[in-house]
Amino acid sequence: MKDGKLITLAIESSCDETSVAVLADGREVLSNVIASQIKVHQVFGGVVPEIASRHHLDNVNRVADEAMAEAGITLDDVDLIGVTYGPGLVGALLIGLATAKAYAMATGKPLVGVHHIQGHICANYIAHKELEPPFMALVISGGHTNIVEVTDYNECHVLGQTRDDAAGEAYDKVARVLGLGYPGGPKIDKIAKEGNPDAIEFKRVFLEKDSLDFSFSGIKTGVLNYVNSEKQAGREINVPDVAASFQQAVLEVIVKKTVGAAVRMKKDKIVMAGGVASNSRLREMMEAACEKEGIRLYYPSPILCTDNAAMIGCAAYYRYKAGHVDDLTLDAIPHLPL
Ligand code: KG4
Ligand code: ZN
Repeated sequence: MKDGKLITLAIESSCDETSVAVLADGREVLSNVIASQIKVHQVFGGVVPEIASRHHLDNVNRVADEAMAEAGITLDDVDLIGVTYGPGLVGALLIGLATAKAYAMATGKPLVGVHHIQGHICANYIAHKELEPPFMALVISGGHTNIVEVTDYNECHVLGQTRDDAAGEAYDKVARVLGLGYPGGPKIDKIAKEGNPDAIEFKRVFLEKDSLDFSFSGIKTGVLNYVNSEKQAGREINVPDVAASFQQAVLEVIVKKTVGAAVRMKKDKIVMAGGVASNSRLREMMEAACEKEGIRLYYPSPILCTDNAAMIGCAAYYRYKAGHVDDLTLDAIPHLPL
């Protein structure tokens, strides 16, 4: 405890960010240190799991020390240890888990495992102090695209998910086709601002009527075919136009399904989370669609959209408050269902 508040130490290492955060009473962030490995993986055009694990191992203790120092606490002040135990890369998850268990054992304080997606959703509780469930959530990242009905802090139902690539993965793959580099999402976001979203008509994939699932694997092929046929015809590729048109095709489907789900399930709030929730065009389109339906839209700042431990600490706090504690047998589950 510190100043009468419950102190959570949280660790996130599911992909390529090593992050440790300290929270007071679940929503107040005292520190949120993130060591990104983007530069390490950039040369490979994507995350290399084994390299990610090694870097987590190199970084995690230093990041934890930094997080505690920045928060002005010591291990003695910690009441609760939260950690991501899935989904994610197994080797990467194991580093965070082993560290969290070591802290739990050393301090005798409870260990609480957190689902990474639940963490992403909770980033909004940090960003918007007044936000409370129920609401509809769109979790959209490099690994996930889910429409989730959130009925309480610890209760949610997945209504729709991607059947192949995640939205962020589609952004990254299309960026590679266009030679924009990795990670592609922010690059497409930026360059698309100079392009015409109606220049090329890429297919909108809605799947079956009323389905809230997604499929993004086709659009990468669509963009690739377009680029190849233009090259063969000797025409120059207008990269901003392709980026803007790709984005438009993907985002129209995402916005329509998410807002449609909220209307259908009578939710007057939509919460966005995950790396792609930083996308400026998505925010614009969601704002417009939500306003039309009288729905309030929430999303966190970019630093809370991306993988970070503060969101994991917030989720751990609410799990702990509901009486959930794990023991030291907690294991990494790479495909953990929500
Ligand atoms: O949530 P996140 O940091 O990690 C995962 O859990 O996957 O999301 C990373 C993904 C990457 O695919 C990246 O390209 C995408 O989020 N991303 C964006 C933007 N910023 C990050 N996609 C579109 N527009 C952005 N501004
Ligand atoms: Zn994530």
